Amino acid sequence: MRDAAPQTIYLKEYRAPSFWVDDVHLTFVLHPTATRVRSKVTFRPNPEAPGPFHLHGEDLTLISAQIDGAPISLTFVEDGLTCDVPDAPSFVFEAEVEINPEANTALEGLYLSNGMFCTQCEAQGFRKITYYPDRPDVMAPFTVRVEGTEPVMLSNGNPGAQGAGFAEWHDPWPKPAYLFALVAGDLLATKGSFTTMEGRDVDLAVYVRKGDEDKTAFAMEALKLSMKWDEDVYKRPYDLDVFNIVAVDDFNMGAMENKGLNIFNSSAVLASPSTATDSNFERIEAIIAHEYFHNWTGNRITCRDWFQLCLKEGLTVFRDQQFTADVRSRDVARINDVAALRGRQFREDAGPLAHPVRPESFVEINNFYTATVYEKGAEIIGMLKRLVGDEMYDTALQLYFERHDGDAATIEDWLKVFEDATGRDFSHFQQWYSQAGTPQLTVTDSFENGTYTLHFSQETKPTPGQPDKAPQVLPITVGLLDAETGAEHVASTTLEMTKARQSFDFTGLSARPVPSILRQFSAPVVLKSDALADHRPLLLAHDTDAFTRWEAARTLGRDALHSILAGQPPSSAYLNALKTALTDERQDPDFRSQLLALPSHSELVAEIAAKGGTPDPEAIYQAVETLRQATSEALHDDLAALYAAHQVSAPYEPSAEQIGHRSFANAMLGLITRLDGGKAAQTQYDAADNMTNQLASLSALLKVGKGAEAAQSFYAQWQHERLVIDKWFGIQIAASEPDRAVSVTKTLTEHPDFTAKNPNRFRATLGALAGNTPAFHQADGSGYALLADWLITLDAVNPQTTARMTSAFETWRLFDEARQSKMRGALARIKATPGLSRDTTEMVTRLLGD
Ligand code: TRP
Ligand code: ZN
Repeated sequence: MRDAAPQTIYLKEYRAPSFWVDDVHLTFVLHPTATRVRSKVTFRPNPEAPGPFHLHGEDLTLISAQIDGAPISLTFVEDGLTCDVPDAPSFVFEAEVEINPEANTALEGLYLSNGMFCTQCEAQGFRKITYYPDRPDVMAPFTVRVEGTEPVMLSNGNPGAQGAGFAEWHDPWPKPAYLFALVAGDLLATKGSFTTMEGRDVDLAVYVRKGDEDKTAFAMEALKLSMKWDEDVYKRPYDLDVFNIVAVDDFNMGAMENKGLNIFNSSAVLASPSTATDSNFERIEAIIAHEYFHNWTGNRITCRDWFQLCLKEGLTVFRDQQFTADVRSRDVARINDVAALRGRQFREDAGPLAHPVRPESFVEINNFYTATVYEKGAEIIGMLKRLVGDEMYDTALQLYFERHDGDAATIEDWLKVFEDATGRDFSHFQQWYSQAGTPQLTVTDSFENGTYTLHFSQETKPTPGQPDKAPQVLPITVGLLDAETGAEHVASTTLEMTKARQSFDFTGLSARPVPSILRQFSAPVVLKSDALADHRPLLLAHDTDAFTRWEAARTLGRDALHSILAGQPPSSAYLNALKTALTDERQDPDFRSQLLALPSHSELVAEIAAKGGTPDPEAIYQAVETLRQATSEALHDDLAALYAAHQVSAPYEPSAEQIGHRSFANAMLGLITRLDGGKAAQTQYDAADNMTNQLASLSALLKVGKGAEAAQSFYAQWQHERLVIDKWFGIQIAASEPDRAVSVTKTLTEHPDFTAKNPNRFRATLGALAGNTPAFHQADGSGYALLADWLITLDAVNPQTTARMTSAFETWRLFDEARQSKMRGALARIKATPGLSRDTTEMVTRLLGD
């Protein structure tokens, strides 16, 4: 494996490249264990940054190298090679290297997945393919020739000459090496077409392995929808004659936006009603959109260096969230985004892995593809949009595309566009990119002589390397309601908070209103509104903003859990309010099912710790169970009717409307199962004709200990569908009682279908254990030990996925001394593993705070 000697890279040390690349020609002679890569690269010295000639390269066997046709003498260095180059306006570097795709289990560079050749180059995988300046600010057009026996051989750009045993591709758009891609295998294509707003006819295709061709239709439609949306909303047309998507089984993340040749984890593209759930369909649509949108935000305008990763990821997440809000339910989309942000990013911000949206240093950039860079990066853009307004946002974005098309840009460039478009100063706002941590926003109010005042104060706790925090710019969207009727007196308005403490007046009110604060979750903060707690039922019943209505229910639920934890019964306020809201048939059923969702176990852990308490995972688990049971009982008389009323009789469609009904009905089924011991769930299981209903009923049965038979028949039914078997692995662990989940996980890792080589299967299993918080935190430490064992095993196979999954331990400091020492022990054991990868070494070092 890699040399573990860690080298830290700093943003402040950025230097422009000493050589530009004008042209790249690559020839691949494919072979599973000995692929030859011949490269011919035209370099031009950069007079603005004179320096030595250096090419990155890793795990390459050099066969030959020349400059301008003459042999050269090379010096191999730690991360590649250097050599003397002619003092000429340009020169051609040629090399031939040999690489071994079959031995590449890290899934970075060129590798094999089920016999199919594929690549993953972001962030620094191209250096495992050939010697090259593997940095995003070096952009060039690529011409690629693939030689091999595979029926389908693809690369970026437009197809050129194709014949028996070879295929040529040309990508005219200059791109950095991380966007290079090659795929070759025995693949089937689902074809489609799209005509752009400029009149360009684009051939679309989704390539899959044989047997999966019945699961591509949805992805193809999602692609067309995305292409149209980006034209309608951002005026961004597609710019090549073909757009190809390929599904790959072994993949470290969701998908990759390689120019004209997006490569997808098969879980992020393949779907049919019988094998994929509603959430799978929604996720696929969002990821297709995300990767497609990268064509402009990422590819046409890329990042100068990897510190600017949020420039493309934050913006592209923001765009895919806008897309989902437009094509699905706007309110539910926002609620889902906020729930994901709180569950993953707030947790990251509150622990040892906290880092700014634009980090200032890294050892392994792959470790910074985080919720902070992606999701908080997207929230920053949402705040900008709120601050400047929709129209100005559009103007700024058009200026961004105009000014920076073809550039490798920075966050400074991005904010300058907003400054130039609006004439405003964003220097204080820029701090959102450099200061880590989630601001805690506290609100109180007062009313005097017709003037209503909201008093805010903000505070951000220290994070690693940043002991002192400054106030952030916070757009706080508020509205005021009538305390008696709930009618809206003051419509949504966005206050701009810039100081540690600030008050805002509303004049001319005849009575003290009820405030609705942080509508749409207008800033990524933790809102402390306990002083206004009495208003929650009114907000839940009457607020015009769906997010704050949902938030009111969720906060009531949270308060109910806290009173159970304090040994008191849940206040009836929550159960009454919930009952009223859930039975209100005027409300979107999907929204109503969201109202039932309680704060996650890890959010509760964080909250208790933030108040200076010591979270007890077992007690939290019991409190949630108690509240769920009380909810079932309180709704007892309505459940059956609600469940029946939301059955979908029409043929399955992943439409927002049907998804809403299923989601609500399955939420009711979960509650019913607590009362009937699994009768209704078994009936649904036996009759289910789609994966959403099948999996929901299996989960409900497993939770009440009645799922053994169903789980067996599920396996028998789906054993040849690997994506469904991933679910089978995961759900048995997720739905296990905390004291059984570790042994269930252990047993499943001994199942013949378990493998550490496939990231989906590994995540489905060990990720499910880490996600079952009370199980993972069993007092005996067995959850920690099992995960550590498997991460040590996985690191030798796949460092990237191992490193990501170490974040299961990121909350370790929040727990009691005994658990802390067990988690520290598990991390120390991982860290002490001989030959541990650079990726995992960096993560465990940060986690331990060494
Ligand atoms: N750029 C990709 C995206 O967000 C994600 C990505 C980064 C990735 N590194 C990767 C995907 C490695 C797969 C493997 O769309
Ligand atoms: Zn992305």
